Amino acid sequence: MNYQNEIITILHQPLQNKLSAEQIENLIETPKHTHMGDVALPCFELSKIERKNPAQIALELAPQLNTENTIISQVEAAGPYVNFFLDKSQFATQLLKTIITEGQQYGTQSYGAGKTITMDVSHPNIAKPFSMGHLRSTVIGNAIGNLLEKTGYNVERLNYLGDWGTQFGKLIAAYKLWGDEEKVRANPIQELLNLYVYFHEKAEEDSSLDQLGRDWFKKLEQGDEEATKLWKWFREESLEAFQTIYDLLHVSFDSYKGESSFHAQSDQIIEMLDQKGLLEESDGAQVVRLDDLNMPPALIKKSDGTTLYTTRDLAAAIYRKETYQHAESLYVVGNEQSLHFNQVRAVLHKLGYDWSDEITHIAFGMMLKDGKKMSTRKGKVVFLEEALEKAIQYAKENVEEKNPDLAQKDEVARKIGVGAVIFHDLKNDRRNDIEFSYDEMLRFDGDTAPYLQYTYARAKSILRKAGATSTSYQFHEADWNYAWPIIQKLASFPEVIQQAVYYYDPSKMAKYLLKLAQHFNSYYANVRILEESPYQPSRLALVESVSVVIKEGLSLLGIEAPEEM
Ligand code: ARG
Repeated sequence: MNYQNEIITILHQPLQNKLSAEQIENLIETPKHTHMGDVALPCFELSKIERKNPAQIALELAPQLNTENTIISQVEAAGPYVNFFLDKSQFATQLLKTIITEGQQYGTQSYGAGKTITMDVSHPNIAKPFSMGHLRSTVIGNAIGNLLEKTGYNVERLNYLGDWGTQFGKLIAAYKLWGDEEKVRANPIQELLNLYVYFHEKAEEDSSLDQLGRDWFKKLEQGDEEATKLWKWFREESLEAFQTIYDLLHVSFDSYKGESSFHAQSDQIIEMLDQKGLLEESDGAQVVRLDDLNMPPALIKKSDGTTLYTTRDLAAAIYRKETYQHAESLYVVGNEQSLHFNQVRAVLHKLGYDWSDEITHIAFGMMLKDGKKMSTRKGKVVFLEEALEKAIQYAKENVEEKNPDLAQKDEVARKIGVGAVIFHDLKNDRRNDIEFSYDEMLRFDGDTAPYLQYTYARAKSILRKAGATSTSYQFHEADWNYAWPIIQKLASFPEVIQQAVYYYDPSKMAKYLLKLAQHFNSYYANVRILEESPYQPSRLALVESVSVVIKEGLSLLGIEAPEEM
């Protein structure tokens, strides 16, 4: 529900030959003082068009406006302005009834219905720790996916595992030289990472190791039995470790088809490129030149005949279009891969796939620790599972202190700890780098998930204490100062969803929820909600509506809200 739109429609009727609805939308504003109404149209722009004094225009326009059966109670010309007064009670009553009846469905839209969007998300690399970058992709992707679903799209969440590439040749070589089966079984990710790091150290002294790694990868691509068996084992162990993280985050995927599923198609890709005369040889490797687009060439096949990241991505993109008939294909991957996705899109375009422009790289910044990138290569990494467990542990200590008698403390602590990590990521524009900080993310009084969850739990506790709610509302005059900002925020929830979807930007929802919670908390501090009075039903309806929207907003971000904390 949106009163701005209603006012635009009312104004557009007499003005349609002079201004478009969009122009009107840009002109209308909120007056500084309430005695000047709730919305105003300044007439300076019209004065230029009509070559008349703006006050004269306002005087003539006001009586022409038809506000019958709308939530506008009064229109008046005041100097160069036309001022609109809302029937706030009527507006609030309608809105709160809608929210309470629709519950978690409030804000649901259908403009995406019948369309599929594929999302390339999470995509950790096998035999390596799940990195902060993969966490960012997972949570940003999950939130965008939820928001898209809320607007009716069918979303396919594709976990494109990094389970192929030269690094597996190196890992197999390393395992065969120094590996210990028992150790790997006991602690797969750490042990495989150690082997990988050790291999790199040794390869600096002994360059024959690199060749050995390449040979093993070539064998793997050719289906060698021993190589395949080891690779499969590493893959299974890794998937199991990743699953622990996905369970904590409560995320799931529609497919785990990774890079390994797409190396076999590379011959077809190469043939297509060749037929179109797009392949060129460069130092023995096959490349597609992209000079015309000011990009370096895309590498398609190495001199030893093995496939590359780009080749596999080309095959995967074609497979996705054929399989899902997507309207859009999103790749939630760090900023540093921008060039790669531009190349993939460009090569597909050169191949004649006009759907290449359905591909969008949803880029994001890095997660920093003490201002520095967290790298896995040297074995220095905050292990993500550890980070999540630590956040949960801190949350638990906090709950223990604030509410020692709380039931299901562990489950509540998980929701708070995990929610804190997710929200810390999503509250910023995704393109920015962010600093990882437990203190920042877990504060109950900051821009955090715990703050929102706490606000939700407070609202639920008020509702429990008050008992039944009613559907007939009366509004107290003095409440409006605190209630109106909340009503406006609640009314804009559907629009915030649209914006977050349009910009693929969950931070729009995160910031919205913080504002809503702030307004609600000042309402709570200033209005005696639990006091018996004729105004109590409307107050409780407001509390209930806030609780519905905070819960649904958090849920769209992939964050759970405990009923009590
Ligand atoms: N596994 C890759 C990495 O960790 C990211 C894959 C992104 N998706 C894609 N289709 N290339 O860097």
